[in-house]
Amino acid sequence: MSIFGKNFKKHAHSYSGRVYNSDRKWIIPFFVSLVVWITLISAAIFGYYSSSLSNNQDLLSFNMAKSDDSGGYFVEMNMDKPSDFPKEKAPRLAYLISGTKGDSKRMMRTLQAVYHPRNQYILHMDLEAPPRERLELTMAVKNDQTFAEVENVRVMAQSNLVTYKGPTMIATTLQAIAILLKESLSWDWFINLSASDYPLVTQDDLLHVFSNLSRTLNFIEHTKLTGWKLNQRAKPIIVDPGLYLSKKSDLAITSQRRSLPTSFNLFTGSAWVILTRSFVEYCIWGYENLPRTILMYYTNFVSSPEGYFHTVICNTKEFTSTAISHDLHYIAWDYPPKQHPRYLTIKDFEKMINSSAPFARKFPKDDVVLDKIDKELLGRTHRFSQGAWCVGGSDHGSDPCAVRGDDSVFRPGPGAARLSGLFAQLLSDDFKNKSCPM
Ligand SMILES: *[C@@H]1O[C@H](CO)[C@@H](O)[C@H](O)[C@H]1NC(C)=O
Ligand SMILES: *[C@@H]1O[C@H](CO)[C@@H](O)[C@H](O)[C@H]1NC(C)=O
Ligand SMILES: *[C@@H]1O[C@H](CO)[C@@H](O)[C@H](O)[C@H]1NC(C)=O
Ligand SMILES: *[C@@H]1O[C@H](CO)[C@@H](O)[C@H](O)[C@H]1NC(C)=O
Repeated sequence: MSIFGKNFKKHAHSYSGRVYNSDRKWIIPFFVSLVVWITLISAAIFGYYSSSLSNNQDLLSFNMAKSDDSGGYFVEMNMDKPSDFPKEKAPRLAYLISGTKGDSKRMMRTLQAVYHPRNQYILHMDLEAPPRERLELTMAVKNDQTFAEVENVRVMAQSNLVTYKGPTMIATTLQAIAILLKESLSWDWFINLSASDYPLVTQDDLLHVFSNLSRTLNFIEHTKLTGWKLNQRAKPIIVDPGLYLSKKSDLAITSQRRSLPTSFNLFTGSAWVILTRSFVEYCIWGYENLPRTILMYYTNFVSSPEGYFHTVICNTKEFTSTAISHDLHYIAWDYPPKQHPRYLTIKDFEKMINSSAPFARKFPKDDVVLDKIDKELLGRTHRFSQGAWCVGGSDHGSDPCAVRGDDSVFRPGPGAARLSGLFAQLLSDDFKNKSCPM
């Protein structure tokens, strides 16, 4: 598969001399989308990128088994085929935490704040970070005794160049999900965080409230793309330089315009999502063609992370009613809103709590507000936030989480009460009727 991909890349380069030749203008975006598409599909299905701290041999044999019987998916088109894990009462979450140059320390802090032995974690540090920093992060994870024993934290060894508004971000997210799925770990929801995100509730709170939730619900803030926004966003054709350069630069906008798609409607929304396992399997395994078609379409789209999953979910009948339009984050914007959200400080503390959201962003590095959150909301005295799984003593300042107890017992606190209140609102008929407006 990779050789195939490289050949195409070569072709794309050999045409580069013709960019300004008017009848050949389409060729670069076209080949680039082809390359991306092939890479993404191979990443998703064959685990072409597969890399983690765990044993690669195991991954390989698992892949073979999967691709052998994957033919069945194409024939049967059966929506609930791929995952048949026994459903436990207490849910499990799978987190992707991504960061860039200079983020290794705070990725570690966010990881510790959302850590729970039931969950799965994958860290991605993009290619802009120097190898030394990636090694530092890998070593920090390797040297943590709890992570080593539970084996639920991995660092993606292959890092990608990520352009935050381009398809390389989606590619990385799909790759991380593919690794989490491939390792056959049993988890129910996928959650996407960045190094500047931080939780406002403990994992005990979150897991307790999620145990009561239907495991078909996706939290994805979305609206239909209409009017001037539709023309502004959907007509230009962009090329993500992260696909063919090794240095970060801005998205390239081509002089070509394209017409609107006719076989699906475009949706947009927050790039922060909490998605169910069955929905991401639907996107990754490709037993239906729609997610793939939409992925190809989004290769040349501005801000694809704010549209890909949204468009897939709202154009698939089986999933439209599962989309809850909220990203479960507290995010503050300036008035009038600028391109990026405002940094949160101690002044925002009360508003953050009042929002009842389980996560907030974005925080400056090591700000005092994080210490306040640790102390007052998370009970984070040592490495991890408080949880019923921490059964060690705390005399002489020792870490209660050094001794692990039953991880399916939770001790919900005030955070769980806030979250239940928010969910009561989000799950009311009035709110649910607003999913995927047509
Ligand atoms: C996932 O999180 C990152 C933050 O690191 C964000 O930029 C990205 O757009 C998110 N969403 C998707 C769908 O990748
Ligand atoms: C669980 O759901 C029931 C009924 O839907 C509700 O009465 C109860 O308060 C919920 N518990 C929590 C912890 O959210
Ligand atoms: C937060 O909520 C409380 C109680 O509803 C209210 O009194 C307070 O003014 C709110 N604070 C902010 C900053 O919105
Ligand atoms: C929501 O939709 C359902 C079925 O379509 C309908 O019966 C119900 O009255 C709606 N509720 C609200 C509050 O609009």
